[in-house]
Amino acid sequence: MVDGMIRHRIRLPHSDSDARAQDEAYFYIQEDGDEQQLRFHDYDEIYRREGLYEQLFYERLQCASPAKVASILASAVTQAGEECSTLRVLDLGAGNGIMGEELRRYGVARLVGSDIIPEAYDALVRDRPGIYDAYLVGDFANPTDEMVEELGHWSLDCLTTVAALGFGDIPPAAFVNAFNMIDAGGWVAFNIRDTFLDHRETADLNRTIRELVFTDYLEIHHLERYRHRLSIDGEPIFYYAIAGKKTADVPSDMFEAP
Ligand SMILES: C[S@@+](CC[C@H](N)C(=O)[O-])C[C@H]1O[C@@H](n2cnc3c(N)ncnc32)[C@H](O)[C@@H]1O
Repeated sequence: MVDGMIRHRIRLPHSDSDARAQDEAYFYIQEDGDEQQLRFHDYDEIYRREGLYEQLFYERLQCASPAKVASILASAVTQAGEECSTLRVLDLGAGNGIMGEELRRYGVARLVGSDIIPEAYDALVRDRPGIYDAYLVGDFANPTDEMVEELGHWSLDCLTTVAALGFGDIPPAAFVNAFNMIDAGGWVAFNIRDTFLDHRETADLNRTIRELVFTDYLEIHHLERYRHRLSIDGEPIFYYAIAGKKTADVPSDMFEAP
């Protein structure tokens, strides 16, 4: 939470039956005498209002994920006898920089953020200027030559993705492309809904992450179930935080749908 951020008049629906699935959840915001409904995934509208993202997800719904994922990454790196101060990190789905702020606490060497919407970059510049050494707005599912070239200059050896996998956010192809842009032997840390381990969950992303976890492309150093945040009803939503070492690039055809 950034001290002194603007406060908004927000209201949550009465129950999750009202709010539906995680990717369809919504809330109300009162502005200038009017009340309008915004979905949790209307990131452009949320980022445009200073402090709204923090007030909704971090204060009201007590999201703990950036701090959790940064801390398991740091402890895995340290236990492997390596130093966080040498990490050159790509933070995918960086939003307005909350994960970047957590990673800075561990003194990482370089920090490059990326998000698919320009409103995230605008909010970053407004809320946490200077947190990232560079910030790319683009789509990792179809990276442009300029993105690939720019990222190549940073010699990245760590990928983080927090609260951005699944539920219509970062698709498997984008995550795998980002995974393949960091060096073999580099670190990967992310979080994902706890249902991803359930084999009845056939969503492409869940299958991709299961395969990564259970094949030789990622050596798992830390896997922990924890409370990601509260639901609208005040019930805990559990995720896994995962940190590991990349062993090799994932072949581009490996995760295509059967
Ligand atoms: C819930 S926010 C998480 C932001 C930040 N990581 C945090 O923990 O506060 C999800 C972010 O993922 C971004 N996002 C969604 N789809 C994406 C994609 N295909 N590529 C990159 N970012 C994406 C959204 O724009 C949004 O900023």
